[in-house]
Amino acid sequence: MPQLNENFLKLEKNYLFINIAKKIAAFKESNPEADIIRMGIGDVTLPIAPVVIDAMKKGCDEMGVKETFKGYEDSGAGYDFLREAVSGYYKSFGADVSPDEIRINDGAKADCGNIVDIFGNDNVILVTDPAYPVYVDSNLMCGRKIIYADSNEENGFAAMPDDSVHADIIYLCSPNNPTGSVYTADQLKVWINYAKKNNAIIIYDSAYEAFITEDGIPRSIYCVEGAKEVAIEMCSLSKTAGFTGMRCGYTVIPNDLIVKASDGSDVSVAQLWGRRQGSKFNGVSYPVQCAAAAVFTEEGLKQIHENIDYYQENARIIADTMTELGVKFTGGVNSPYIWFKCPNDMDSWEFFDLMLNKTAVVGTPGSGFGKNGNGWFRLTAFGDRQRTAEAMERFKELVKSI
Ligand code: MLT
Repeated sequence: MPQLNENFLKLEKNYLFINIAKKIAAFKESNPEADIIRMGIGDVTLPIAPVVIDAMKKGCDEMGVKETFKGYEDSGAGYDFLREAVSGYYKSFGADVSPDEIRINDGAKADCGNIVDIFGNDNVILVTDPAYPVYVDSNLMCGRKIIYADSNEENGFAAMPDDSVHADIIYLCSPNNPTGSVYTADQLKVWINYAKKNNAIIIYDSAYEAFITEDGIPRSIYCVEGAKEVAIEMCSLSKTAGFTGMRCGYTVIPNDLIVKASDGSDVSVAQLWGRRQGSKFNGVSYPVQCAAAAVFTEEGLKQIHENIDYYQENARIIADTMTELGVKFTGGVNSPYIWFKCPNDMDSWEFFDLMLNKTAVVGTPGSGFGKNGNGWFRLTAFGDRQRTAEAMERFKELVKSI
């Protein structure tokens, strides 16, 4: 009889967004007429930019012609044209990342979950709480010890390291999912110094970097000096360019990132990850990589920013509603997420049920992202403008009535 990896039995029974989907399905069944507005999962709703679609169609056409047909891409790390485009994008905001440090993937979530493969199970994992559930789940699946750095109201949901505590692998996300808070360059420098002191690696999730509007907020950890010796960065085109249904992202592992093996030899983390990917991943389809490269052209950037601006205006509408009602919140400025305190000190799931039942608006309970999320709630700005405004009208009535 096969033995199970019983670490899985320690996980929450369902992934957070599956639980929410089940609650919506049950509500729909008992309220078939309800006009549900979904502001829960952070999934984009606007169509992909025309220049990106054209590039994908062209890529498809090439696959249908003998002379331009493509099978496997040799390196498995992604086509040079795309890695060069990503490298140019990094340079545009002051991060020096060379094409050979970039690997193309089918969205950041897979790499974020799979990177655990190249690290031993005795590592101490540090996760800021609340956090994107994948960081915790993927480490719990291997039975690792996880410690938490509290992100809370007092520190503006930007947890900082505790020098008296040791960690080997640190997960950071800025702009943060779920709280929408951002780290400044000075704060990231503190984390980098902490990582150096502890011989630790930072896994930095920059999936929401394109939503940064304030000057001086780093778009990448590599904008900060010393990061290339300690950090892996993962980014995705899901939120940047609407690729949630296309699947494409990239992971950067700097050539300077070297870790000592137990026999004292130096090991390149990039080499190890490449080895892992060589055995377990066959790359991203050629048409999707063509589409991704078009994102980073002048016209592509212009077109994707029209969509980002639209979502940012939704975020402003949500944030203004919170301000008007005197509800405490973070995010919405450099992020598509608004993270607010549940009215009347309600528990997150209690507020979820109340809002769903009274207004048919769906959000994400903060407690789904960790203990510090309890009593907090997340709304996404990725919806339709009119529907967002309508949801906020319903929200106002609800908050005024309780
Ligand atoms: C979220 O709602 O947190 C997002 O869907 C995260 C993701 O892209 O997986």
